[in-house]
Order: sequence, then C-alpha cells, then structure tokens
Amino acid sequence: MTPSTYTRVVLVQRPKGDITPETFRTEVVPFDLKPQAKQVLVKATYLSLDPTMRMWLNDSRNYMEPVKIGDVMRGSGIGVVTEAGPGSRFKAGDVVDGLIGWREYAVLDDKGLTKVHVPSGVELMDFMGPLGMTGLTAYFGLFDVGKIKAGETLVVSGAAGATGSVVCQLGKRAGAKVIAIAGSKDKCDWLEKDLGVDKAINYKSPTFRKDFISAVGYLDVYFDNVGGEILNLSLTRLKLGARVVLCGGIADYNSKPTGITAYLNLISQRALMQGFLVLDYAKRFAEARQELAKMMQEGSLKRQFHIVEGVERCPEALPLLFSGGNKGKLIVRVADKQPLLSAKL
Ligand SMILES: NC(=O)c1ccc[n+]([C@@H]2O[C@H](COP(=O)([O-])OP(=O)(O)OC[C@H]3O[C@@H](n4cnc5c(N)ncnc54)[C@H](OP(=O)(O)O)[C@@H]3O)[C@@H](O)[C@H]2O)c1
Repeated sequence: MTPSTYTRVVLVQRPKGDITPETFRTEVVPFDLKPQAKQVLVKATYLSLDPTMRMWLNDSRNYMEPVKIGDVMRGSGIGVVTEAGPGSRFKAGDVVDGLIGWREYAVLDDKGLTKVHVPSGVELMDFMGPLGMTGLTAYFGLFDVGKIKAGETLVVSGAAGATGSVVCQLGKRAGAKVIAIAGSKDKCDWLEKDLGVDKAINYKSPTFRKDFISAVGYLDVYFDNVGGEILNLSLTRLKLGARVVLCGGIADYNSKPTGITAYLNLISQRALMQGFLVLDYAKRFAEARQELAKMMQEGSLKRQFHIVEGVERCPEALPLLFSGGNKGKLIVRVADKQPLLSAKL
C-alpha cells in the first residue's frame, strides 16, 4: 500500500564552510510517483552518508555534477522495489542498490540500479559498509594504488572510519605493519584492541607529531583519508619508492586547502602520489566483494555502523563525519528491516 505523502530532503543553499541548518529543507509532499518504462518505484531502506556529499554541494567542477538548488539531495542507498514499470528487469520485492537520494520513495531508471544478493554470513547493512563503496575503496586503494606488500609499513589516516578501518584490517592481513591515526582515545583503543593495528595515534594530542615520528619512522604506504597537515607530515616520512594513496581529504572539504609544502620528498624518495576513485573499478566490484565477504564469513573483518533513524535526520547527521562524531560507517535507516525480511533475501 502506497502512502498519500512521503518525506524528502532538498538542497536550499550552498554552504560557504560547514553545513548549517539552512543548507537543507525537509518536505512532506503528496505521493505522485509512478514508474514508467524501464523504471521502478523504490522504497528506501538505508541511505549512506558520505564525506564526498560535501563536494556535491559546491558549484564547481568535480567527478559528478553539483546538486542543484531545490533538488533532492543525491545519495546512495539500498531499497526495495515496490512497483516495476513496463519492461523493467526488476520485480516487486527485489532489493536494489543505487542513487536513491534523501527521500523515502524514488522512481529510478533500471540502468542505475544493481540487484543486491546477500551471501550467507553477512547482513544487508554490510552493503552500506565493507561490501559497499567504503569497503571497495579500501580494497582497491590499498591493493591497486598502494600495492601494499608484506613487511612494509602502512600508515592510515581516518583509520577508525568506514574506509580506514577496512584498510587497517586488509593491511594487517597482507602482513604489513599498520600505524593508524584517529581523533580520540576511544577510537585509538578500538583500533589497537579490536582491529589489532600495531599502533594507533590520536592526531588531536599535543604530542601527535612526536608520537607519529616515533611510531612510524619511515613509511612505505600512506593511505590518506584526510589531507591537510597529516598528509604534509606523512610526506616528510617517505621511504624510497613509497606510495601515497590519495583517497580523500576530509580536513579540506569545508574550506579552501592551504597547500602542501613537503612534496619535494616525492622527488628525493622517487615516491608516487596518486588519487583514485572507486567508481573506476566498477567492473571488479564482484571480485573485491567476494574477498571481503570471505573475510566476514571467517570473522576476520570487523565493522561498526553508526545508525541514525529517519530520512529527516540526514541534514543533522551528515556533519558528524566532519566533527568525528560518527563511530563507524554512518548510515540512515529510512524504513524498518521488516519489509526486506519478507522479501526473502
Ligand atoms: N576516492 C574514493 O573513491 C573514495 C570513496 C569513498 C570515500 N572516500 C574518502 O574516504 C575518506 C573517509 O570516508 P568515510 O566515508 O570512510 O568516512 P569516515 O572515515 O567513516 O568518517 C569521516 C572521519 O574523518 C575524520 N575526520 C573528520 N575531519 C577530520 C580532520 N579535519 N582531520 C582528520 N580527520 C578528520 C573523523 O574521524 P576522527 O574522529 O578520527 O577525526 C570522521 O569520523 C573521506 O575523505 C572520503 O571522501 C574516497
């Protein structure tokens, strides 16, 4: 049964710095959604909140068009098909993954959706974390770009987050010495005690620089999720032939980057610094998911989720990524899990 109204969140104004309560507006609108040919009506179950969304709010060149003022905020998620249009390759009850946006219901083209098959030993929610974009980013960033090898020293920033925590665990499994950087004692304890990194360092500590140098010495791979000062410091500690993986720069998303000064070490150490986008690896997602799911089935890949309830809370939840208020993959639960269970996953 479709409701008479549904809730959605639209972009009202582009933030100059931090996201504010004025950035988005929540609307309850009449239900007028009907899938056309090769389209489906999807009821959202989980929405993913990601740092990259901050970039979509800027009116500037990026890997995706900016979200337009007045449009529903873009965002990926998982939902259930409730109605299939003529000629659609999906049917009611299918669980799909795609750019649902911040809304309870969406009409989406078939071509932007993937059917989700949940292997035994993992949960649907894992497709928002280790088997979703953040886990896949960790996998391809560490192995394809970072080319980590046993015995090497790997440094990971944003280490307690969704991407970083998977990088740390993959790094340990590959036989590297892993030094993790995070923003609180709690997160550092989790990284050392639960994830088994060799050392976790709190970048908010007044002794961070000294702690970093003494724990790291020199590094082979720096997996960068944050940019800014930590990237600059890491560039001063490169070994010959080191690889710097530019995954993200969350420290610079709300403001203008101030620039790195230590880049000349890339020359003296014949090191490589490379940016990458997980979307470019789409043809190999199945391979990575198989490996990551295997680790989960063995119990050797730990994950944490930070769940916020209700689509209307997306605007207040997104800033948690920038304050470090999230503990694990930040997601919004839009609908109860029940309809999914009845969809016989
Ligand atoms: N290249 C790609 O294809 C790709 C794909 C997915 C994600 N990414 C990038 O990967 C990074 C992590 O994303 P995620 O989704 O996994 O988020 P996340 O790590 O789960 O959450 C973001 C974390 O960043 C840390 N942080 C925030 N501001 C910071 C600052 N100024 N300095 C240092 N740390 C800061 C916070 O942890 P603390 O408490 O430790 O500060 C926060 O919890 C982001 O930069 C994202 O853009 C890239």
